[in-house]
This record gives sequence, structure tokens and C-alpha cells, in this order.
Amino acid sequence: MPERLTKAATRNIFYGGSTFFLVVFVALTIHSHLYMTGTSAPSSALSDGVVRGKAVWERNSCINCHTLLGEGAYFAPELGNVWKRYGGDQDREAARGMLAAWMASQPSGVPGRRQMPQFHLSDQEVSDLADFLEFVSRINTQGWPPNQAG
Ligand code: HEC
Repeated sequence: MPERLTKAATRNIFYGGSTFFLVVFVALTIHSHLYMTGTSAPSSALSDGVVRGKAVWERNSCINCHTLLGEGAYFAPELGNVWKRYGGDQDREAARGMLAAWMASQPSGVPGRRQMPQFHLSDQEVSDLADFLEFVSRINTQGWPPNQAG
């Protein structure tokens, strides 16, 4: 029986296939990067407050109870869209005030309700957190979560 797939052909398929998919992989990586920085969350919107707010978020391990865009723990509400829940899209100052009031009034002490600790954050830290949560709410999540309650 004649050998149809020669060694050389096999080698070419291997190298050709590897090169082709490497190019596809690199192109998709570049596309993802450009999409993330340009469309889903424009890096131009990254103010100093947002960067500091992310640090406050990390220092205090908010993620140990909360989720942000679905990532994190499921003890407490999703906060990726808390800015929208607080009406920040309509009234920015009111939403910032609500966040500050919330942070100041914890733990609520209401029996039977899950409790959030008091973090003793400074006004600056709470303001930075508001910047951060506003930024996160502007990430284009393509309609996720499906309802406002997260
Ligand atoms: C030990 C767990 C825990 C940690 C850590 C925690 N939270 Fe919470 N958080 C909760 C719980 C529980 C609730 C819901 C309480 C309620 O409904 O009475 C809540 C609610 C909230 C809400 C209101 C959400 C809404 O939809 O109204 C905000 C805002 C919030 N947390 C912000 C933060 C921030 C910012 C941090 C980090 C600095 C943080 N939380 C860390 C447990 C936690």
C-alpha cells in the first residue's frame, strides 16, 4: 500500500498548524486586550480615586464576603452594580452619600440579618471607594447580572 502521508507532509502539517493557531491565539489576545482597555472599561476612566479605591477594597478584603462582577464570596450582596442600585446614574452625590452612610452605620445590629463589620474608614477612603464602585458599575458586562439586585 502506497504511503500517502509522507514524513515531510506530516511535518508540514505540524508546523503549519502550530503557526496558524499561534497567530490566531496572538490575534485573539490582542483583541481581548484592546476590548478590555478600550470598550468594556476604558482605561481613560481610571482616575487616581479609582486606583486608590481599589486599594481600599483590597486592604479591607471586601471580597471575603462580597462578589464583584460575580467573583468573590457569596455571603453578602454583589457590589459590581451597587452604584446603580443606589441611583448613582441619576444622582451621583446622593449615591456617594448613601455609601458613606452605609459604611458609617455598620454593623446594623438588626437581629436575624447578616452583619457587615465596621471598617473605620476615613472620609477620603470612603470617597475613593465610591469612585471605584462607580467605575466598576460602568464596566460593560453585557447585561450581567440580569437583575439589579445582583
Ligand atoms: C464580614 C463580611 C463583610 C465584609 C468583609 C464586607 N461586607 Fe459589605 N456587607 C456585608 C453584608 C452581610 C451586607 C448586607 C447587610 C444587610 O443587608 O443588612 C453588606 C452590604 C454592603 C453594602 C450594601 C449593599 C446593597 O446592595 O445595599 C455595601 C455598599 C457594602 N457592603 C460595602 C462593603 C465594602 C466597601 C467592604 C469593604 C471595605 C465590605 N462591604 C466588606 C458583609 C460584609
